[in-house]
Amino acid sequence: MTVYSRIAGTGSYLPAKVLTNRDLETRVKTSDEWIYSRTGIRQRHIAAENQSASDLALLASHRALEAASVNPESINLIIVATTTPDMVFPSTACILQAKLGIKNCPAFDVQAVCSGFVYALATADQFMRSGQYQTILVVGAEVYSRILDWEDRTTCVLFGDGAGAVVLQRSDVPGILSSHLHADGSHADILSVPGGVSGGKISGRPLLQMEGNAVFKFAVRVLGEVAEEALAANQLEKSAIDWLIPHQANIRIIQATARKLGLPMEKVITTVDRHANTSAASIPLALDTAVRDGRIRAGQLVMLEGVGGGFTWGAILVRM
Ligand code: ACO
Repeated sequence: MTVYSRIAGTGSYLPAKVLTNRDLETRVKTSDEWIYSRTGIRQRHIAAENQSASDLALLASHRALEAASVNPESINLIIVATTTPDMVFPSTACILQAKLGIKNCPAFDVQAVCSGFVYALATADQFMRSGQYQTILVVGAEVYSRILDWEDRTTCVLFGDGAGAVVLQRSDVPGILSSHLHADGSHADILSVPGGVSGGKISGRPLLQMEGNAVFKFAVRVLGEVAEEALAANQLEKSAIDWLIPHQANIRIIQATARKLGLPMEKVITTVDRHANTSAASIPLALDTAVRDGRIRAGQLVMLEGVGGGFTWGAILVRM
């Protein structure tokens, strides 16, 4: 018998502190008008000093587990997508496992930057389809505020902190219809954090740098291509999509992607105005938002799309 994964519960967490565009006006030479008109962002959440990615992941996971009516003890595998792990090692997934108070499951991180959640969900789905596991926790958690140059107005206005999680369970019917992952390492120079921190010691420049225009064009192209690929693989028309959840980097990238798919913006979930770009957390945060406010309902077809540094990109079609 073929086995599939279905999303049994979603959860998310945003740190309490909100940093608005107006707040940023006092830090760098920028304006609410510039940021909003170029990106659609009005505000972002910032983790407290004592909060790390695993803390955000834990709170999002508890909410997803509760929504799925699943005990932490039932989890067979934990995958955390993050670019801002607590430490070089142990992985944030192992730290999360300990915080969940469980021991008997494998746990590992996935590093695919803003495509991280799509990569992690695709990986989890393969483990599920192989029949090895029944319940998998997949999390995207980021504290980008830690890797930003707060004096660089071209990047610091774009990002925020947060976490989102889903509980996947084995199902006789899909669930996840298919996943489509890509990478092209030759574009590393247009978006990177070319350094690291370990034990408080810095090597290189461990802060985000980006060529905004080049990233913009690349993102619009590959998000369009991979959406077509996912639909063709399932012999589905664009009109079959009930909801599009693209990575939340910039409203203009999102609008361009929706236009290519012929989807009205009413069918696109957007949180970029309130969350800014939370990298690997943006898709599960948007998914949870729309599940909880009742827009996304059981039986509907959802397209998740990620793109990020690497470059990496991918799409997943899910029947909720
Ligand atoms: N406030 C005010 N002015 C600014 C700011 C700011 N925060 N940042 C840049 N400027 C200035 C620039 O210095 C430039 O001034 P100049 O003309 O005197 O040189 C001017 O505004 C225009 O700059 P551009 O970079 O040309 O502005 P653009 O319209 O391209 O918008 C942006 C820049 C918003 C970064 C856009 O390129 C973009 O959204 N790119 C996608 C990047 C992205 O979303 N990255 C997220 C990570 S990747 C991912 O998640 C896939």
